[in-house]
Amino acid sequence: MDTDSLYLDYNATSPLSLSVTNWLKSGEVVFANPASQHSAGKHSRKIINESRTQIFKSFGKSEKSTKLFFHSGATEAFITYANSFSEYCRQHNRRLLICYAKTDHPAVTSLKERYWHEDVSFFELMQNSDLTYQHEKNFSELTEKKKNDPSLMILYHHLWIHNETGLVSPLEDVKRFKALPDLYLHIDAVQAPGKIPEWRDLSVGDIWSFSAHKFGALKGIGFSFMSADLFFYPLIAGGGQQQGLRSGTENPQGIKSIALALLDLEKVDVLKTQDYRNKLAQYMEEELKGIGGLLKPQQHASNTIYFYLNDLTSDISLALFDLQGIMISAGSACSSGAARPSLILTLLGKESVARNGLRLSLGFSMDEEKLNKIKVKLHPVFNRLQGLISKK
Ligand SMILES: Cc1ncc(COP(=O)(O)O)c(C=O)c1O
Repeated sequence: MDTDSLYLDYNATSPLSLSVTNWLKSGEVVFANPASQHSAGKHSRKIINESRTQIFKSFGKSEKSTKLFFHSGATEAFITYANSFSEYCRQHNRRLLICYAKTDHPAVTSLKERYWHEDVSFFELMQNSDLTYQHEKNFSELTEKKKNDPSLMILYHHLWIHNETGLVSPLEDVKRFKALPDLYLHIDAVQAPGKIPEWRDLSVGDIWSFSAHKFGALKGIGFSFMSADLFFYPLIAGGGQQQGLRSGTENPQGIKSIALALLDLEKVDVLKTQDYRNKLAQYMEEELKGIGGLLKPQQHASNTIYFYLNDLTSDISLALFDLQGIMISAGSACSSGAARPSLILTLLGKESVARNGLRLSLGFSMDEEKLNKIKVKLHPVFNRLQGLISKK
């Protein structure tokens, strides 16, 4: 990457954290199979065990009350747990209701498109016009469903932080759902680490899923915590690794990178980053006057700014930003890169700009110098856009 360019797409993926970079540079390659009984294998096992201890510690969890296992990423976690619940219900002759929201990540919303046995159904959680959850209405609807079918099992997905808008939906607000028997909360914690002050507080929930590449660890690995007393039917079975929770040879290098990245993240002053994010949002609002606007979620992640331009689709504006060395993203790009209408902007009633949405997501740490560098880089792009877009 050009040293002069600015990477502002942390919600898509994060560069490696400093400790992970230094560790990889040190050349320590943990190559041996941790199941092997020779000394190299034992070394890999030791690395995994030490990393597990660190990960438990980072989130204040204990091995006694919580299980931890590694998988490829959060996408795998959602299908893994949905499968586990469905299998439990099939074996115990019970019906399963899977709750999700329209604005969940496709890893969750796509569960609905899969083939499940006939006793699995879905419930779309109601949301307000600003995309916050209608918790009271959802609670009474689910209470009614449970009353009509006392043996109903409920798997409730809760998106903690939305990856495009940065909207935070506090865990405290879903605590009430635990009053319903047989309801289990699966928290999508993917965007949380390092982006809200309470990211390490997993006191609400039954399952919490993470993707390592979102917070400075290696790609292709993620992890979940789940309450130790929760039933579990593995999706991936085979050699019985990870106590049978997820078979397949473990990835010590990836696991250690998680522990290191978490330690780096613990040092981050989230409120300070949030402050700089707010200053940047204010600056951008000025620059966007007459040519666009930005979303202002009530509670937002410390690093995310979602904005739109009035008359320019995001595929074109992204290229302009990129030419200036600013890497951001269009929340709604399809795999071919063409702009398609953003579900978020459409749901927010902004259909006329639905193809024009852009997301800027900062790194975990900010200071005055970084803020000024971003402003200096952004200014000529906004100047150009002021000339290109007709004023409203
Ligand atoms: C909120 C959220 N959930 C789930 C995922 C899926 O994560 P992964 O692609 O790492 O499996 C993402 C990825 O962007 C996300 O932002």
